[in-house]
Formats: sequence, structure tokens, C-alpha cells
Amino acid sequence: MRAWQISAFGIHSLEFVERLTPAPGPGEVLVSVRAISFNFRDLMMVKGLYNPKMQLPRIPCSDGAGEVADVGPGVTAWKPGDRVAGIFMQNWLDGPLTPARARGALGGDIDGTLAEYILVKENGLVALPEHLSFQEAATLPCAAVTAWNALAAGDLKPGSTVLIQGTGGVSIFALQFARLRGARVLGISSSYEKLERASGMGLDAGLNYRDNPDWDRWALDQTGGEGVDLVVEVGGAGTLARSLKAIRIGGTVAQVGVLAAAAEAFPIPLILHKMARIRGVYVGSRRDFVEMNRAISLAQLRPVGEEFHWTQAREVFERMEEASHFGKLVLTVS
Ligand SMILES: NC(=O)c1ccc[n+]([C@@H]2O[C@H](COP(=O)([O-])OP(=O)(O)OC[C@H]3O[C@@H](n4cnc5c(N)ncnc54)[C@H](OP(=O)(O)O)[C@@H]3O)[C@@H](O)[C@H]2O)c1
Repeated sequence: MRAWQISAFGIHSLEFVERLTPAPGPGEVLVSVRAISFNFRDLMMVKGLYNPKMQLPRIPCSDGAGEVADVGPGVTAWKPGDRVAGIFMQNWLDGPLTPARARGALGGDIDGTLAEYILVKENGLVALPEHLSFQEAATLPCAAVTAWNALAAGDLKPGSTVLIQGTGGVSIFALQFARLRGARVLGISSSYEKLERASGMGLDAGLNYRDNPDWDRWALDQTGGEGVDLVVEVGGAGTLARSLKAIRIGGTVAQVGVLAAAAEAFPIPLILHKMARIRGVYVGSRRDFVEMNRAISLAQLRPVGEEFHWTQAREVFERMEEASHFGKLVLTVS
């Protein structure tokens, strides 16, 4: 089979290689990958910034969708032809996260999806929502499940206000899921054009954070001085202080990302004055993925992204690095 592998860190060190197609052993399933989507984490992995000690070579990427090609002895849940996606942490099936469940992330601890075939355990897969193409479904395992759980952290009611940061993979899913929950959505972006596009998807109000860095004040203005109920925080050190200023008393920051470097000292008193809840989100379990897919099917929700051929993996990582994309970046295998 053909695969992309990290042989040395750096986008230009990614190699397109020929590897032996694995054969499924007992309890294992061989999946013919039809589409792959990229996450910011995969870019960090390729550049050696996520885990500089990761054993190489490693096939990157956690997210993909495809068809079951073959099953090993004892597999009863799947048969050849079933449309499936792998779960992000292969050992986190249900319940709270534990150290043991956190091990086995695709494209990190073990080889990932940027290959013609992947071999996973029987329970490391979920069925795809029927209305989605492979390209659409390939966007779900990391960004969508993370956004789903970030929204769940907010204890939202219809009419609650959610603030999303940027227009990348997690944030656009957060916009879509917030709309499903009947929430009002505020968004910030570096691009007027992207804000316009997000408005077309239901964003209620948007602000360009490059031209208006005080977006926390804007969020307060937008909520009559009260503050928003939930921030889906993808910036991290560079945005968390403003997120705390932007939430209402008793509001929640769902801490998801690490995109921005620290801009100011961390305002500890705000945490107590606002009785804030800061909730870390680390993707989610297989059960979360299955429940999210049920909602996606019921709402006939369609992920948003741009498609490329999988020979363009290096160019697509560069595109992610430039942050010129909107929603997801998807590669079709052929
Ligand atoms: N905790 C988890 O389980 C989990 C899961 C998935 C992702 N993540 C993390 O979440 C973050 C987002 O991931 P992703 O895959 O969605 O990334 P992505 O698709 O590459 O999205 C990046 C976008 O974020 C926006 N952005 C960058 N800096 C910003 C800032 N200072 N303020 C506001 N927005 C900013 C930009 O949007 P505009 O161009 O519109 O400005 C940029 O295009 C990453 O740090 C990733 O590692 C964590």
C-alpha cells in the first residue's frame, strides 16, 4: 500500500512510501481509507512540536473514513463494504478518560490514517452517518467530536450565547452544533471574508480580531454587558485571558486549543470574580462519537471543507500552517 510517513520532522521531510498492506489478525479490521482530514495537531505532529520524542517513522493523521476491506477471525461487528471511521483514541470507548484510555491515539501513539489502508481493533471504529460522503465523514473523528464535547461543557439552553474563535475545523463544527442547540453564536476571525461565510452558516455576529483586538469588550456589548455563556477556546495562552473577560459570571471556557502565544499575564482574579468554569476538552470517547453521529444524521448536518488529492499532503499542511482555510482540509485517496 502507499502511505505518507514522517521519517524526520518537518513538512518537507514527509515521504510518500510503499509499505506492506497489513493483514487483520483476531479481532482486527482492515479499512480501505477513502478520505483523510487534517487537524492542527497533525501539523504539530509532522513538525515535531507535539511530541518531539515520537518514534519514527510514523504515519500521521487521526482522521479518516473508508470501507471495511477485510476482517480478522472473531470479528462480528463489521463486514467488508461497511462504511466506517476510526475513533481518535483507540482505547477510549466509554466513560471518563483514564491514562490507559488516553493511550493509542491514531497518528501519534500508533500509525494513523494517511495511508491506503489502516488496521484497527474491532471496537476502534464507528459507522458513518448515511447521508455523508467519505470526504465529509473524514472530518468527524477529532474536530467534530471535540466541538461536540466543548458545547456539552457549556450546559447550554436555547438562547444561550456561544463565542467561537476563528474559522478552523473545531470552530466551524462548534458553530454548527451551537446552532443545533438553539444557541446564539458570536465569532471572531482574522478575515472579513471568512466572517461573511460563517454568517451564511448562521453566525449571528462577527468581529475581525486583527482590526479589533478587544473582542472581549465586544462580546460584553453583544450580551448587554453580561458576557457569553460559553467560549470554545482554541487560541490557548494568547486568548484565554480575554475569554475569561468575555464570559458571564458562572460562564464556561471550554479549553480546546493552543494556537496563540501568551499575550498578557494570566488574570487569576477573574476566575474567582466570575466564578468561571474552565473545562479542558480532549476529543472524546467512542460513545461521544456515536451520539454525535446520531445528531448529525437527524439534523442532516454537513461538514464544511475543501478537498484535495492525497498526493498533495505537503501542500495541504502548508495551507493549514498559513491558516488560509475555512472549516476542514480533506484529502481524497485514489
Ligand atoms: N483538545 C482537543 O482535543 C483538540 C482537538 C482538536 C483540536 N485541538 C486544538 O484546537 C486548535 C484548533 O484546531 P483546528 O484543527 O480546528 O485548527 P485549524 O483548522 O488549523 O484552525 C485554525 C484557525 O484558528 C483561528 N485562530 C488562530 N489564531 C487565533 C487567535 N489568536 N484568535 C482567534 N482565532 C485564531 C484562525 O481562524 P481565522 O483564519 O478565521 O482567524 C485559524 O484559521 C488547535 O490548537 C488544536 O491543536 C484540540
